Amino acid sequence: MATPPIFQLEKLMDTDEKQHKRFSQMCEAFKQKYGSRPEFIARAPGRVNLIGEHIDYCGYSVLPMAIEQDICAAVKKTNTGEIRICNLDAKNYKDFTTSIKNIIIDKSNPQWFHYFFCGFKGIVENESLQEPVGMDILVHGTVPKNAGLSSSSALVCVAGLATAFANGKSISKLNMADICAKCERYIGTQGGGMDQSISFLAEKGAAKLISFNPLRTEEVSLPDGSVFVISNCCVELNKAATSHFNQRVAECKISTKVLAKQNGVDITSVKTFKDLQTKLEASFDKILDLVKTGLHDEPYSRSEILEILGISDEQLVEYCLSENTKDVQTFKLRQRSEHVFSEAQRVLKFKEACDLKDMQNKDEALGNLMTASHVSCSKSYECSCLELDQLTQLCRDSGALGSRLTGAGWGGCAVSIVPSEKLESFLTKVKTQYFDNLGQRMTGRTMDEVLFATKPGSGASVYVVN
Ligand code: GLA
Repeated sequence: MATPPIFQLEKLMDTDEKQHKRFSQMCEAFKQKYGSRPEFIARAPGRVNLIGEHIDYCGYSVLPMAIEQDICAAVKKTNTGEIRICNLDAKNYKDFTTSIKNIIIDKSNPQWFHYFFCGFKGIVENESLQEPVGMDILVHGTVPKNAGLSSSSALVCVAGLATAFANGKSISKLNMADICAKCERYIGTQGGGMDQSISFLAEKGAAKLISFNPLRTEEVSLPDGSVFVISNCCVELNKAATSHFNQRVAECKISTKVLAKQNGVDITSVKTFKDLQTKLEASFDKILDLVKTGLHDEPYSRSEILEILGISDEQLVEYCLSENTKDVQTFKLRQRSEHVFSEAQRVLKFKEACDLKDMQNKDEALGNLMTASHVSCSKSYECSCLELDQLTQLCRDSGALGSRLTGAGWGGCAVSIVPSEKLESFLTKVKTQYFDNLGQRMTGRTMDEVLFATKPGSGASVYVVN
């Protein structure tokens, strides 16, 4: 099975001068900080999800692509038994040193380096490393944080890759993706596996349909005549520091059990909507019908759920809730289920539309599916925010064929599909009507970080420093 590629840093000069320059700067800063040059630089990209939001943890396929922006870690092995970690952006990310024996991931107050420790711990445990080597580390990232472009997962992935490489372990991309998806949960968020999978499995030039259990990917060829544009609404959400995300995960788990019960399926035999759909052998249309007839609009109270399922409160906590949702009293089941099943269906339609020959129909179909996805995220899943709703509307009004939030939501970025010939006027309109009016919220950001066209980038890799 393929492992993440290993390159020589000096060769990068011939293929990507800009990245080579950045890596040279990282090596220089590393030397100033720790007294000698790093041995290697590990790199993991962020991603933009084109369609398939909040459905990976329900077992359904998603359709992301890697972006050029990434998180990189320059590393040197040590025999001090310690991890020393710093960031090139020292103003915003403070240094930290810890003994390897005493690594703590503080869920109640997540700091940037805790994500690194997730990846570190994931490899150490998975490979049963008794004496992992110490590491001096300098991190530099270009993925904007809390923007829905997966900066946290890229940091977890780069940490996993760096730890594996430093300890002489060669692990396949598929296993790396799997390990990193699981170990990111040490920080407390119950994400699915999309971000880590695309970070390791991406290939330049192609988006991927990613399916789970078992993890696999299929190449998706994107339209030639259109480009995907990312725009950041500049509202930030730190999903590890709030319970919005885990609340949705809980609602999906509970709804799976309620629908199972109503349709004669043993509730302990299904964990995800996908398990349930498979058990029922139901089409998406059929299961959407079951949602409509079986679940009511009003939020379900905890006692109502216990009564329907015939379980105790302790069992509800065990089956469906997490540390930060264990005390939640009401759950919206119908709306969340409608979003997940219809979104999973849209992903398959999007993939089918990508294979269409007729260019115009294809791009229009993709645009319509993206917009429908946004409406469902906003209305049924309630993971948008006012600014994202406004920005996606403006993108559509400025020439995009479709526009939607991307990533977890509640802030962060939108992705739009824009016909190539309209790109210039699109960018100008969105800039003048959204970004030029942002005032304070633009502080510390440049225009090319908040509004840019993007192409599918490559997956995680290692550069050996000579
Ligand atoms: C986060 C999670 C992913 C996925 C998205 C929403 O990025 O890490 O697994 O659930 O949110 O689609």
